[in-house]
Amino acid sequence: MIKEGLEGVLACKSSISRVDVEDGKAVLEYRGYDIHELARHSTYEETAYLLLFGELPSKRELKAFEEELKDLRELPAQIIGLLTHLPPFTHPMVVLRTAISYLGSMDMERHFIDYERSIRKAKSLIAKIPTIIAYFHRIRSGLNLIHPNPDLGHAENFLYMLKGEVPEKIESKALDVDLILHADHELNASTFAARVAASTLADMYACVVAATGTLMGPLHGGAAQKVMEMFREIAVPWRAEEYVLRKLERRERIMGFGHRVYRGVMDPRTIELRNLAKRLAKVKDSKWFEIAEEVAKAVYKHKNLLPNVDFYSACVYACLGIPEDLYIPIFAMGRIAGWTAHIIEQYTNNRLMRPRAFYTGERKRKYVPLSSRTERLDL
Ligand code: COA
Repeated sequence: MIKEGLEGVLACKSSISRVDVEDGKAVLEYRGYDIHELARHSTYEETAYLLLFGELPSKRELKAFEEELKDLRELPAQIIGLLTHLPPFTHPMVVLRTAISYLGSMDMERHFIDYERSIRKAKSLIAKIPTIIAYFHRIRSGLNLIHPNPDLGHAENFLYMLKGEVPEKIESKALDVDLILHADHELNASTFAARVAASTLADMYACVVAATGTLMGPLHGGAAQKVMEMFREIAVPWRAEEYVLRKLERRERIMGFGHRVYRGVMDPRTIELRNLAKRLAKVKDSKWFEIAEEVAKAVYKHKNLLPNVDFYSACVYACLGIPEDLYIPIFAMGRIAGWTAHIIEQYTNNRLMRPRAFYTGERKRKYVPLSSRTERLDL
């Protein structure tokens, strides 16, 4: 039987994250730890450690991991050169996948997929992706580069490199929680793409490039950017319902709603992001949360759909003053921990992913030599 979109298909075993619905409530756990607890008590660095190594770190282990990430943040001069030469209008996700590919070309151990070297590459990618995003943004804006600051944590340092000033505590905490919530999500499309590439024993950079390209689509990570475009179009809360009805009448999708797995139940990440967006909107005096709430009410009323992770993250990024085309790269900045953990898991217990297709095309046609073919009139 064909399962279009591989819906409900179990494609591999994994012990990284559990996505489930229990007693009518959605569950998301990373390595057995509830996402709500991680969002409230952990940090992105600790969560990345948990995803990569399977256990929460001790104090000493966490400190060592944080120091390693700090040491790996700076980019080689060649990558900075690449960021300078790319056209400034290039979408930052295209920049990111190009820079990751370039980093691969510079790694003499690119082809090795053993555990130790894979962990080294994973740490390097987790540390460097924020720098690639921030540097490209400053270069395209004609601003000087702000180099990584080893006194600052992962999220805090990213905002510092992006904007040139140390963020307020509430800002860095909000981004940190957002990154935790985006760090992994079982076999979502981009992680699946990474695992398909890993199942051919392709190198880690190639797998992450596959994941980065897949994340960009509007049905996946691209939704957050589209959500913000929608908020801008709506502009005032009282226009939200009218906008939603118009979209639904035209049978168009409303970005930031619906989920393949959480059908009819609230995505647990959305609960955390909504709280975060609400707090931030109050502090920053932002109108986007109010618009978001009206959109969510209208979509539930007229289509019975719930918001997903991308919906309130758009509000959070807007409150942090992050440009819209950086929303997907920030998703990647969080998800890189999950991608690399999944790639390593695939390498460790591999079987080539090679499904079949149900053939629906023509059969047994007779080859006609070029000289005997007639031109089609509609060409
Ligand atoms: N807006 C409007 N209608 C939607 C919708 C949305 N965002 N998401 C799903 N639906 C509708 C479909 O049109 C369909 O309605 P119908 O039965 O009346 O035809 C029904 O809900 C089921 O949709 P289906 O296409 O089977 O869901 P899916 O599992 O294939 O899709 C998504 C999952 C995420 C691709 C889909 O919900 C979507 O496109 N969302 C918008 C993009 C987005 O936010 N992506 C981020 C995901 S985290």
